[in-house]
Amino acid sequence: MRVAFLGATKGMGRALARRMAERGDVLFLLGRDPRDLERSARDLEARGGSRRVGTARCDLEHAATLGPALDSAEAALGGLDAVVVTAGLFGTQDRLETDTALLARLLTVNFAHTILFCEAARKRLLARGGGTLCVFSSVAGDRGRKPVVLYGAAKAGLTRYLEGLDHRFRGQGLHVVCVKPGFVRTSMTAGLPEPPFAGDPEDVARVVLRAIDRGTPVVYVPPIWRWVMLVIRLLPRAVMRRVGF
Ligand SMILES: NC(=O)c1ccc[n+]([C@@H]2O[C@H](COP(=O)([O-])OP(=O)(O)OC[C@H]3O[C@@H](n4cnc5c(N)ncnc54)[C@H](OP(=O)(O)O)[C@@H]3O)[C@@H](O)[C@H]2O)c1
Repeated sequence: MRVAFLGATKGMGRALARRMAERGDVLFLLGRDPRDLERSARDLEARGGSRRVGTARCDLEHAATLGPALDSAEAALGGLDAVVVTAGLFGTQDRLETDTALLARLLTVNFAHTILFCEAARKRLLARGGGTLCVFSSVAGDRGRKPVVLYGAAKAGLTRYLEGLDHRFRGQGLHVVCVKPGFVRTSMTAGLPEPPFAGDPEDVARVVLRAIDRGTPVVYVPPIWRWVMLVIRLLPRAVMRRVGF
């Protein structure tokens, strides 16, 4: 599979990209820091039997970089079978309530520009008869909750967009995979209090790769979060106002 990958330099993206390289997928890395990208590309080449891994600058804070980055990936790979987006920003609710500049960046990166990137990706995939678009959203988008009002709002919007995309283009061969991590131990969550059912990037990567291969539209990782969020979605509003999660 020929894969353009945005966000493979860290965390769940790195674990997923490594798994893909190890099984023989051909990767092209997109990201904002050229040195991190190069380091990640060399790591993946070592794991993927020296198959060359190209890179291009793609910064979700700068819309002008998105389309050209995908063009570079498509040209280098000779076409795209899949586009993966694990890139994203996090901020605690307290910080985002006081730091308006960070909030604006987060809404741009996690919602507006991720959608612009996905639109550019799906047009390129559909032009070649389809493919897979796998994007990391979050369980935080499943319900309005006190600790993630703002981060969750961006992810809720992203989740709905991906659902609509699946409905609209599945028949034309576009397989949209919306990944909803619960709590996963990465640099994004370093220093945060760990809730029950926390997972590790390597376990997430295994589950997500299977979902990509099957074209599963929604996947919770670790999988137990499907049931956790089912319960949370069913809680009455009066209960949600009282509880702290
Ligand atoms: N960890 C969790 O518990 C959790 C839970 C729910 C959802 N998620 C979501 O899952 C995804 C992956 O999370 P993670 O924990 O693996 O995060 P991570 O370790 O912090 O990695 C985030 C990735 O996003 C990239 N990125 C950040 N801002 C960017 C920008 N402006 N342009 C391009 N790339 C950018 C980073 O690149 P740099 O190397 O340049 O920083 C990095 O590769 C994110 O969308 C996150 O919101 C995570």
